Amino acid sequence: MPDAIFAHPRLAPVYDAFDGDRDDLAAYVGIAGELGAERVLDVGCGTGCLAILLADSGRTVMGADPAWASLAVARAKDVRARITWVHGDATALPPFGADLAVMTGNVAQVFLADEDWAGALQGVHAALRPRGYLVFETRRPDWRAWEEWAAEAGRRVIDIPGIGSVEQRSEVTGVRFPFVSVRGTYTFGADGAVIVSDSTLRFRSRDELESSLVSQGYRVLDVRQAPDRPGREFVFIAERTT
Ligand SMILES: C[S@@+](CC[C@H](N)C(=O)[O-])C[C@H]1O[C@@H](n2cnc3c(N)ncnc32)[C@H](O)[C@@H]1O
Repeated sequence: MPDAIFAHPRLAPVYDAFDGDRDDLAAYVGIAGELGAERVLDVGCGTGCLAILLADSGRTVMGADPAWASLAVARAKDVRARITWVHGDATALPPFGADLAVMTGNVAQVFLADEDWAGALQGVHAALRPRGYLVFETRRPDWRAWEEWAAEAGRRVIDIPGIGSVEQRSEVTGVRFPFVSVRGTYTFGADGAVIVSDSTLRFRSRDELESSLVSQGYRVLDVRQAPDRPGREFVFIAERTT
């Protein structure tokens, strides 16, 4: 089950407002160009921000996510119905023959158990064309992002058109490396509703990621930085070996 912030019908519509500017995404459209990818699969597409940019760039796009509520937000943005939206997790992707599969927004960190991550890599493998590419980001454990999150934990209020004022209180609720748990508590000014979303993320080392990719039939072509978050992320560019 995806976390409430993605899956709850009242929280998914406020996700983009709290997520802020998506300065991270242009780099992925650039990588799609660099790799000559025309058919792109956005795994864990969430509210569809990247899928929309990819479709705007003229590519054939499929967005998949297990959270209905996020997919509904994504569909509403796709006014010309250019994108194929799929309700499903990374292990249940339809055959798409993708030139490229992407996982942005640190989707890779939602797979907590080794077998979940292996299953996701297998699912993506099957949805790629032979020699297709997988590009994903994940936070570097040595950056210790959770310390920053704990220091910045607090309260934000945003007035969201059509929804009204929403307060977000965020806190780090547990660090048992490689697992970090965070909680967001959302209070809706319109009716006082309070909805809590708990998330746990796994931080994997570069070596763990490389060996998991190799064992699931990928070759690592490059590991880069995210241009908007230097030093904080691994951006893996991998290729199906067959
Ligand atoms: C932080 S959001 C990122 C969304 C989007 N990629 C972006 O960059 O805005 C993580 C997404 O992963 C999705 N997710 C959770 N479990 C998943 C799974 N098993 N397979 C695929 N996606 C999953 C969530 O529903 C959520 O939409």
